Amino acid sequence: MSDWYTSFANSGVGSTLVKQLGLPRPAVLRRYEPGQQLLPGPAVVGSAGEGRLRATLTAVLRDAGVAVLSPAAADGAGDGERPAAVVLDATGLTGPAQLAAAHDLLAPAVKRLRPTGRVLVLADPPATADSPAQAAARQALEGLVRSLAKELRAGSTANLVFVPEGAEASLASPVRFFLSGRSAYVDGQVLTLSAADVPAGEDAERPLAGKVAVVTGAARGIGASIARVMARDGAHVVAVDVPAAGESLAAVANEIGGTAFQLDITAPDAAARLVTHLRERHGGVDVVVHNAGITRDKLLVNMDAARWNGVMAVNLQAQLDLTRALLDADGVLRPGARVVCVSSQSGIAGNRGQSNYAASKAGVIGMVRAWAPEFAERGATVNAVAPGFIVTEMTATMPLGTREVGARINSLQQGGLPVDVAETIAWLSSPTAAGVNGQVVRVCGQSMLGA
Ligand SMILES: NC(=O)c1ccc[n+]([C@@H]2O[C@H](COP(=O)([O-])OP(=O)(O)OC[C@H]3O[C@@H](n4cnc5c(N)ncnc54)[C@H](O)[C@@H]3O)[C@@H](O)[C@H]2O)c1
Repeated sequence: MSDWYTSFANSGVGSTLVKQLGLPRPAVLRRYEPGQQLLPGPAVVGSAGEGRLRATLTAVLRDAGVAVLSPAAADGAGDGERPAAVVLDATGLTGPAQLAAAHDLLAPAVKRLRPTGRVLVLADPPATADSPAQAAARQALEGLVRSLAKELRAGSTANLVFVPEGAEASLASPVRFFLSGRSAYVDGQVLTLSAADVPAGEDAERPLAGKVAVVTGAARGIGASIARVMARDGAHVVAVDVPAAGESLAAVANEIGGTAFQLDITAPDAAARLVTHLRERHGGVDVVVHNAGITRDKLLVNMDAARWNGVMAVNLQAQLDLTRALLDADGVLRPGARVVCVSSQSGIAGNRGQSNYAASKAGVIGMVRAWAPEFAERGATVNAVAPGFIVTEMTATMPLGTREVGARINSLQQGGLPVDVAETIAWLSSPTAAGVNGQVVRVCGQSMLGA
């Protein structure tokens, strides 16, 4: 399933019509395919401030086969050398005066950026600043990046990563993600890394080789896409869904050479059954993706207890109970485990008629943040992914007007695809993403809702 308007606006007849009517023409995004180069061209790397990450950054890019241009070289380069990415190392800022250097570097480089380009800014976290002036300069970058993301066109994105002192080893994995086609629909995001034991390297094509990954709600929609991407990346997937979805669940599991496990995650014995299955059939688990979710919309004043309780049970309580049981079951959650919890833009922005759903999805974010330190102690991580408007069977049934507005009110002017959510979850599940913990990553094309 694709975003029909984007396909139409980029077709022969469609592009002429869209131009004549003055309608937006959303770009065809650069999405990851196995074997794809990290970037389709060189990257400009520059710094504003001391730039303590420059050497690490250059090494990461060179390892990935990306030519690195200095800002001056990029200025004079021919058209073939137009940058596919601009990476600004803004670490070491002492006050707002130095922000001018960020502007001086970004303005000419962004002007020459290729379509589906990437802007990535790296900085020290505001929370660890020595002075208000330093905190101001660091925080200012958030406003700069979020605005630039809104200005970029042609499928380009801009994101910001805060890198605390001591977390330099955590940098390579997010840099690769944000520059790659895996982050096609992740835009205007801000992440803070933490120090972690990061494995030296991983197979770029199969980062999940040898891992066992559980995906709930895998019979269809986003969950089926997560299962496919995880299997593509090398994992053995245990696909979980309710018995009523058994047929489609089996079809997904067969397609990817995984295991189908019928389970209602809200059943009183669900956690015990899952733990036993993972211990006995797979000897443990490396990745758990809590994707299963339901909506039961009604205005709060009209909402009955069944709607409230049903949504809470699937979307929040089951995530809490299954995760707790896995943490407590001796040896089942393997070292370096990854738990990724699906939240939602509604949990950040709120949504009319979704007080139950938004409460459950906001709860997921609270849970993830609170659990992060316990996971870090085990060398594991727990993160949330909050999808925005994703084109699925569910959104296809929305009234045309609501659907079209929902799909367009973001910086990329289009709905995301299930695979965009799946790529982000697969990245967070990978071994080298060890320094991304307790974070919420929105996959929403920088939606205006809740921004
Ligand atoms: N589609 C979107 O635009 C969007 C946006 C934000 C967040 N999300 C979230 O993404 C996730 C997947 O959404 P989707 O659009 O693919 O939904 P979907 O309805 O297509 O799929 C959800 C799956 O979860 C399963 N499920 C429901 N209750 C279950 C239970 N008790 N036990 C086991 N499995 C159960 C369903 O059978 C179904 O296969 C959900 O958590 C949803 O809230 C979706």
